[in-house]
Order: sequence, then structure tokens, then C-alpha cells
Amino acid sequence: RFCYVNGRYLPHANGMVHIEDRGYQLADGIYEVVPIYHGKLVDMEQHLDRLAYSLGELRIAPPMERNALRLVMRELIARNGVTNGLIYLQVTRGVAPREHKFPKKTKSSLVMTTKKTKPVAPELLEKGAAIITQRDLRWLRRDIKSIGLLPNVLAKQAASEQGAFEAWLVDDAGYITEGSSTNAWIVKAGPDGKARELITRPLGHDILGGITRRGVVDLAKEQGLNLVQRPFSLEEALSAAEAFQTSSSAFVLPVTSIDGKAIGDGKPGPMTMRLREIYCRYAE
Ligand code: PDD
Repeated sequence: RFCYVNGRYLPHANGMVHIEDRGYQLADGIYEVVPIYHGKLVDMEQHLDRLAYSLGELRIAPPMERNALRLVMRELIARNGVTNGLIYLQVTRGVAPREHKFPKKTKSSLVMTTKKTKPVAPELLEKGAAIITQRDLRWLRRDIKSIGLLPNVLAKQAASEQGAFEAWLVDDAGYITEGSSTNAWIVKAGPDGKARELITRPLGHDILGGITRRGVVDLAKEQGLNLVQRPFSLEEALSAAEAFQTSSSAFVLPVTSIDGKAIGDGKPGPMTMRLREIYCRYAE
């Protein structure tokens, strides 16, 4: 298994960066995770757009041109024989003696790794995921895919310790922002009590603009579903008919309990599973 480190393909065990890399010392960097599904990179261009956006917002110099980036990604995936899995890209502001302000003439660091993954376990799809909620302790620029992930790490660890699959984060007003590494969605009866609404928090600085989220938004519109992008509270989520989450790693995943309380009838919902099916077909 190979990794890519600043211009070289190395055996994974030899993939190292300097101790004064600003990613290591200051979390001064950004990352992307691109899914590989049936041998194809899913929405690669959108991931590269988001990578460029994160770099731009932090004024980190792109490590190479976009064409070269694509080439390296494809080469690493080919070398590692990945047909289903993920590729991880990380760019930091580079190596320099530690100080907070930007160093003058430092080259960005670029590393990549791949991971093979198995399809989501059938049991998880049948039962749906149990999740918990945690206070959202993150900074105010969650739209930047920063490698500073301590609040996300602590939230996911809390979920794991409670036997849950993910933690959804609640802001100080009582609204769900998103999951620790997923976007959060609910389905509920509309104001007329009939047509079901598909609800997810709008884009902005307070959530990461998930690429899977965007894919599902587009598919929902195509399918003529009743999509409403607005914040929703924890109370609303608990009384929703269905809930699910989206991410590059599991696409559309049903959520059937929150903080130990069943959502709807406690089974994956029909709209969720329909969206999962059409998203998987789209990703192929
Ligand atoms: N996480 N929200 C957060 C905070 C995330 O970290 C992620 C992705 C998402 C979903 O985005 P996308 O659909 O583009 O994967 C939402 C990646 C997979 C990770 O950290 O491993």
C-alpha cells in the first residue's frame, strides 16, 4: 500500500512529514475525502472545488495545479487497487519554525492516502443508525474543511462510548447544525399535514457544505420532492417521521433513534431509502 507525500509515492509505513509542519503543530491546513465507488471517483470536481475554496479562505497556496492533482489521485488509487473506498487529501501551510502568523516563503505540504471500505453493513441499513446529540463546540467557519477536528473527535468518541453511530451537534439556540462528520436531515409532515417535507440546514458558515448533501438536494429537486432548507431544532428532529444523514463515506444513511428515542416508527423511512437508492445509482 502506497501513500503520496510531497511529490513522492512511498510505502505507507514510510509516509512522514516534518515535526514542524504547521498542520501538525497548529492544525493550519485543510482536507478532502473523496469516495471511490465501483472504481469511480464520485463528484471529484466538486471535491476539488471545495478544496480550492478551503485553501482560498485560509490563503494557503495550492500545492499544485488541478490537473496534476487529478493525476496524482488517479495514480495513487491505481497503485493501491482501490475500487471501493476513499481517498484522503490534506494540504497544510507547510513546514516552518513555529509561530502563529504565516511564514514568508513556505511551500504547502500535500499528502494523500487511500482506504478500501466495505459496503455499509446490511444490518445497519435494515435497522438504521442510533445517534446521540452533543453540544456544537466548533468555531464559526465550519464551511472550511479544516483539519482542526477536536470537537468532532470528542463528539464521535462520546457517540461511540454510548454505542451510537454518530453524534449530531446542537447549537446554543437548540438547533441541529450537522453531524460530527455528516450532514443531518429530517422528513416530516408538511404544514397541510400531508405532503412530506425534506428538511436540512441551509448552507452558510455554520455547516460544512457536504458534497453528498448537494447531490441529494439536486436529486430531491429532480424527483419533485418537497425540499425545505432551514434550521430544525432537536425537538423537531425527535418528532420527525424520518431522519437520515449524508456523507462521502456512507452516502445516505437512515437514522432511527436520537438520544435513545425512536424516530417515527423506529425503522428506516421510505423517503430515506428511496433517496439512498437513487443516490447510489447516481454515484455508480
Ligand atoms: N466528513 N459535515 C462534516 C462536519 C463533515 O466532516 C463531513 C464529511 C460532512 C459530509 O460532507 P461530504 O458529503 O462532502 O462527505 C458534513 C468526511 C467524510 C470526513 O471527515 O471523513
